[in-house]
Formats: sequence, C-alpha cells, structure tokens
Amino acid sequence: MARIFEEESRTFSEYLLIPNLTTADNMPDKVDLTTPICKYKKGIEEPKIQINIPMVSAIMQSVSDSGMAIALARSGGLSFIFQSQSIESQIDMVRKVKKYKAGVVTSDSNLTPEHTLADILELRERMGHRTVAITHDGSPSGKLLGLVTSRDYRVSRMDPGTKVAEFMTPFENLVYAKEGTTLKEANDIIWEHKINQLPIVDNEECLVGLVFRKDYESHKENPLELLDSQKRLLVGAGINTRDYMERVPALIHAGADVLCIDSSDGFSQWQAETLHWVKKNYPDIPVGAGNVVDAEGFRFLADAGADFIKVGIGGGSICITREQKGIGCGQASAVLAVSKERNKYLEQTGCYIPICSDGGIVHDYHMTLALAMGADFLMLGRYFARFDESPTRKMLVAGNYVKEYWGEGSNRARNWQRYDDGGVGGKMSFEEGVDSYVPYAGNLKDNLDASIAKMKSTMCSCGASSIEEFQNKSRLVVVSATSIVEGGAHDVIQKDNDRPR
Ligand code: IMP
Repeated sequence: MARIFEEESRTFSEYLLIPNLTTADNMPDKVDLTTPICKYKKGIEEPKIQINIPMVSAIMQSVSDSGMAIALARSGGLSFIFQSQSIESQIDMVRKVKKYKAGVVTSDSNLTPEHTLADILELRERMGHRTVAITHDGSPSGKLLGLVTSRDYRVSRMDPGTKVAEFMTPFENLVYAKEGTTLKEANDIIWEHKINQLPIVDNEECLVGLVFRKDYESHKENPLELLDSQKRLLVGAGINTRDYMERVPALIHAGADVLCIDSSDGFSQWQAETLHWVKKNYPDIPVGAGNVVDAEGFRFLADAGADFIKVGIGGGSICITREQKGIGCGQASAVLAVSKERNKYLEQTGCYIPICSDGGIVHDYHMTLALAMGADFLMLGRYFARFDESPTRKMLVAGNYVKEYWGEGSNRARNWQRYDDGGVGGKMSFEEGVDSYVPYAGNLKDNLDASIAKMKSTMCSCGASSIEEFQNKSRLVVVSATSIVEGGAHDVIQKDNDRPR
C-alpha cells in the first residue's frame, strides 16, 4: 500500500512570519541580498558564483531571452536562457548577453542598400524600432554603409520600391565613433551633434553597436550589476537530458556562466547521467538540476553532483501537471522539506548546496517566505513575463494591456525534452501547461525595486540583514482559513480594487 505522508502539503499563502526584535542595525539600506547559486564548502571557501538579488528568471520561451537576461543581470539577478530552441539560436542569445556593453546596443534592425522602402516599413512594424542600420550584408556586424531613420523618408511621397541606397544617410555623412569610446564620450558626441543615435564601428568600419540618446540615463552605473571578471554580464542557460553532449560545449564556448537542467521531474536517471557527464567534461562550470519536492529527490541530485537544486512540481502559474498527472507538492512544504535535507547534507559533508524555489510565487511576500523557508534564491516566470523586457507581445485585450505567457509544457512551446519520459524519439503526448495572458506591468527595474523594498523591509522586521541570517532567525506560523480572510482588506467598501500585487 502507498505510504501516506503525515503532514499536509501547504503553499505560501498558508504561512505568515512572526516579527523578531528590530534594532538600529536593521535598516533596509543595510540589508545585503547577495546569495550563492553554486555549492561550496561552508567556512572554507567562497561560493564561485553569487547573485546580488535572490531572483532568477524561468527557463521559458516566454520569459528568458537575451533582452530579459541583460535587463535582469543589470539589476543584479540572472536569467537562464530557454533550451527549447535550436543550439544555434540559444548560443546566439548567450553571445548577445556576453557582448553587451552598458549603453551600446547590438543593432537588431539591419538591412542592405539593395532593400527597399517597403522592407524598411515592414521591419519597423515588426521590430518597433525607428533606426535601421544599413550594412553590406544586412547583419548587425557587417560593414556600416549608412543609417535610415524616420527623417530619411516620406511614406506619402515615395514609391515603396525605392532602394534604400537612394535615401539612406550614407556612411560618409554620418557622425560615428570608434570601438573603445566610453559611454560618457559617446554621450558627449550625441549632445554636441544634436543626434539621437551614434553608431560605433571597429577599425574595419564594421558595426559594433548603437548608442541611443534616450538610453543614457538608464545606462548609468548600476551598483548591483552582475558581472564576470572581464566586466561582462553573467548569463545562465537551460540544458536538457537529450542533446547535452552537443549543447553544453556550444553554450560554454559562447560564454554561458552557469547551466541548469530544465525538467519538470529531476528525480531521474537521465539527470544523474547528464550531471556526471557535465562534471566529468567541464568540472568548472556550475550546473543546477531539478525539479524535486522532497528529501529523497534532493539527496539523489546532490549525490549526482548538482551545484544547486531546484524545488517545485506543479505550482507554476501556467502549470497543469497536478491535474494531468496527479504529481506534485504544495510549494511551501516542498521548500521546507528540501531545505531540511540540505541542512542535514551540510552537517554530514560540510558542503552547502543552494536551493532555488521555482514556481508559484504570486505575491511579493511569497518571495520572502520562500527565503525564510530556506530557499537561497527564487525562479520566477509569471512575475518577469509581465514586463517590457520579456520576449512576448504586448497586446490590448478587453481594454487592458497584457503580455502573452505560455508554459513550456503547452502545445505552443512543445518543450518535449522538459517532459521527457525517456521514450524513444521523444514526443509530448499530452499538455502540462497552458497558453495565457498576464497583466502588463511596465518595466523590470521599477517592479523589481518595489519587490525588493518589500523584501528588505520584511527582513528588517524579522531582525535580519542577510539572507542567511533571515533563514536562521525566521519564525513562521500556519494560518487558518479564517485568518487568511482577516489578512486582506475586509469589512470596508473599497474605493478601488486595483491594488498592486
Ligand atoms: P511561475 O513563476 O508560477 O509562473 O512558474 C514558473 C515555473 O513553472 C517555471 O520555472 C517552471 O518550473 C514551471 N513551468 C514552466 N512551464 C511549465 C508548464 O508548461 N507546465 C508546468 N510547469 C511549467
């Protein structure tokens, strides 16, 4: 007969934190959110990679491309570029992040002089950019031959078939700067010449990138920016248990700093084999594994060599795994069970393995609860999907702006490797995720600032100035269904009902 766990499985909303003594040392400005993301010998060595805020973006098509990775690393977090795409396009995204220089944007709207006005208009419509770089081969790093902005053409007066060569501003008339120009110098040139964008070229006059006037403010130094030893942004990448022998070397070559096996169920022979192979061939690259929800799953992946372990099955906002397969566990219980085993593992081996709570974070306070329960960092899908920087379309639906957000197990993503049951050929026999909209919420930085302010404030209320101290000191209580009602606004007539989540 099946073994029945004695404790009910619970979710974040069923817990609250009890405050501890707050002292003058517990000021939000003094709270340090730095957190490890790979295993290390506690007290003997420093973790090889730490992130500056405890948040990473989900390994999903609708969340983590190069744009999200750049924005999040600039704010101190990390993205894992999705693996449900070809190796070539995934490494292209990784390269974009590693090549990113603050303020210098890789041009993603490029054509050749042989293209036409109609091509310019189509590209503008598709990409939403007004500046098109004209290069000899139409690539973002080809020889720069000119620039087309909306000042260069009049749609009503020109034949759509007019060649770009006839109306572009040719290279010899452009103001440009050489590679190595600092952002400050580039900005001075923009002001001096009253231009809106400045192309940066190398010694062969090949395009390196563009500096935009409007971006200057947002590209000022960011103290939390997550950089490698060569001052490039850090980026993670998802891998799977099928093509890792080809994908992993390509990703490492492209500059990926940390890998994570992307799977809905990490307690599998395939994950152990993948970990063994990566650790044998690339011992220096951190690789995370998961997802698991209990002590046994954690042990299995820890023994197989995982650098961090992801926790959560069935709690994701787009996830229907529990309905489809009857598998999973309340996210809070899963994090608590795995943290307990992680601490036991630390006592036995001296080795600390960070854990990542993945999925099911709805309110900002859920993030803080997950940390209190022992998670070292959080993986979020829905949260990041709502921002400008996510790769999906912003649309107006029933009078509200929304962004698209779909699960990796939906028919739309068809990420069969994530839901691999080891069968020959690999296919998805049924969906484990839905295709949906999420309310559009503006830019990443504003939202992250608000969430982090709440996190720090809660930590101060609990007398903690670091995540480790918070984990050690936190006191949690299970709340009854009636006290959950008490927790929201109640017994008043609310004037509006659009409080932010
Ligand atoms: P969210 O933050 O609640 O939206 O959850 C995001 C997490 O859900 C991801 O990091 C994955 O672990 C998980 N996930 C992504 N796609 C699917 C799916 O199609 N079905 C089930 N879980 C998914």
